[in-house]
Amino acid sequence: MATTLTDRLDWVLDKSVVLGYTRLGPALRRRWWPADPAAGSMEGKHVVLTGGGSGIGRAAARQLGSLGATVHLLGADVPQLDRARAELAAEAPAGRFETEVCDLADLPQVAGWARGFAGRGLALHALVNNAGTMSPTRKETAQGHELTLATHVLGPHLMTRELVEPLAADGDGRVVWVTSGGMYASTLRTDDLEFTRTKYSGEAAYARTKRMQMVLAELWADELAGRGVSVHSMHPGWVDTPGVRHFLTVSRNLTVPFIRSADQGADTITWLVASRQPASATGLFWHDRRPRPTTYFRQSRETEDQRRLLWTYCQSAVEKGTEGVSPETGP
Ligand SMILES: NC(=O)c1ccc[n+]([C@@H]2O[C@H](COP(=O)([O-])OP(=O)(O)OC[C@H]3O[C@@H](n4cnc5c(N)ncnc54)[C@H](OP(=O)(O)O)[C@@H]3O)[C@@H](O)[C@H]2O)c1
Repeated sequence: MATTLTDRLDWVLDKSVVLGYTRLGPALRRRWWPADPAAGSMEGKHVVLTGGGSGIGRAAARQLGSLGATVHLLGADVPQLDRARAELAAEAPAGRFETEVCDLADLPQVAGWARGFAGRGLALHALVNNAGTMSPTRKETAQGHELTLATHVLGPHLMTRELVEPLAADGDGRVVWVTSGGMYASTLRTDDLEFTRTKYSGEAAYARTKRMQMVLAELWADELAGRGVSVHSMHPGWVDTPGVRHFLTVSRNLTVPFIRSADQGADTITWLVASRQPASATGLFWHDRRPRPTTYFRQSRETEDQRRLLWTYCQSAVEKGTEGVSPETGP
């Protein structure tokens, strides 16, 4: 329940969507939101950031690098990653940036890469599950999973599972799931996880899998309680990125004066990774440095059975898809 004047204003911004998700959101909220992470707070710390070669991921990499982090930029497009690494090294000289090649939608690749990373013996401060896509037609991965589900849900679930040991080694490990305000457009749909029975649409697949990410973050928070790893989900607002320019061209062009910069979209990722405060919270859904409701007004939440079904499906899909995979030999 809103109490102070700023709480009330923040609430109105959030519920109006149009006001809060645009650049107006951070422009106003920065007057009352919690302090920035301390300078140098990420020195000596490693972060694995998926989809780090462009958009919000690239901006988060720059912000974390500026705080001293070593950022492992993970993606499937090698020239894009190499270009980002070179540019980031110039933009954020306090940071270190590594290119890590892995297709998040390909389960054996994810297992091979993550097992190889775990074998490097590094303590991992944070995993940011940021990579995202929106396919206009239904596509399947080599393992037979619908592409959006594989990219947003199965790949990140497997990545999280394989990196628990290095995350726990840090003593203050953090997992951040970059989901979307678009999740409010869907409830948790466990009746057709692979989109084989209902008519496919890119927007519906996106909204459904973004809802699944938020629920998975909650489930991972329970799973890792007491292990020294906090788990967060967040949404960045409406952000001008290559992904939005490509998949949502018309909406983007109509909102150019209001759309957020990639830096504004990445702000809460960086804050969740680098600030002290989020270490004492786990399992919450954040936007602009504040926990947010996971349903819109009277939208109903999923049942316990649906949550269990999602977890069981993810566990069995990743186990089936990665049998016998050996660790990739790292650089
Ligand atoms: N922009 C927004 O308004 C907005 C709003 C809400 C939520 N988000 C979320 O924010 C995250 C970042 O999105 P963005 O807007 O910054 O989009 P973006 O510019 O397209 O960045 C997404 C990144 O993920 C990578 N990626 C996609 N599929 C991958 C895969 N299978 N394996 C490895 N990497 C993969 C992309 O690589 P390629 O370029 O090679 O595909 C790209 O580098 C996404 O999760 C998105 O859903 C964005």
